[in-house]
Amino acid sequence: MLKPIALSQTHMECSHLKDTVPVLTDFLAFEKVAERPGEVTLKHPNTDWLLTVHEGGSDASEKQMHNHYGVRVLTTQEVDAAYDYLSAHKEKYHLPQIGRPLNNHGSYSLYFLEPGSNGWEIECYADALRKEIWKTKYGGVWAPHWERPFSAERFPGRGYVPQGFTHGTLAIGDHRISRDFYANVLGLEVHQANPHVVYIKHPKTKCYVVCAERKEWKVFSDNFRFTLAVESQEAVSEAHRWLSQSGKELGVSDLGPIRQNGTGAFFLLRDPDRNCWEVTSPH
Ligand SMILES: [Fe+2]
Repeated sequence: MLKPIALSQTHMECSHLKDTVPVLTDFLAFEKVAERPGEVTLKHPNTDWLLTVHEGGSDASEKQMHNHYGVRVLTTQEVDAAYDYLSAHKEKYHLPQIGRPLNNHGSYSLYFLEPGSNGWEIECYADALRKEIWKTKYGGVWAPHWERPFSAERFPGRGYVPQGFTHGTLAIGDHRISRDFYANVLGLEVHQANPHVVYIKHPKTKCYVVCAERKEWKVFSDNFRFTLAVESQEAVSEAHRWLSQSGKELGVSDLGPIRQNGTGAFFLLRDPDRNCWEVTSPH
């Protein structure tokens, strides 16, 4: 199996960066850490993994809400405050949809769409965490993802503070096939969240991907992917060699060539459901 040292990054595609990036910085507390033509890389200051947003223009895929990402706040009151704040700024930021907060599989969450059609969740697990069991269940992903809360002074005037960028999502066809692939090919930790949903994460960090069985789903471009860092360029080459030889029988539905991106080597692969993954050396 691969031996990732981190689930280090995720990539999503929007229509226009000028519409989407302000939503992520002004509502979700992301900060811009890098910029190149057609893409912006963001980081939540309290979370380790990166989010790169690609500009797809009018060709950008429409997403379904089951392909969403999530940030977390500390209290349910903050989710309500976020609903009020987003609603008050809906027109200015061209937000096409803001759902009312609801209780949902352990969290109290609101879901909204940014103008580039990506779904975002603002979630709170405070109620679930009153019971001890949820602090460690599923690899502890419902427990705080941060060492220290992100300071309210750094995100003032909204009535809520996103404390961390917690999760992304993938649609899968059969959780048994996915479980096996994520654990035994990608080398990730897999937790069965319910009969049709698995959570996957790197053992050392709490950011996770919610993989839920769907009857049908879209296959997106390479601009929609999760990135696993392995320890070196040699490890990238070794992983690529292994998957070139054995990938098909292991469930890899597509394997791209090794490429260089300026800071190191990487390659893309598609899992049994044709979701895209990147294997890279550390940046
Ligand atoms: Fe979610």
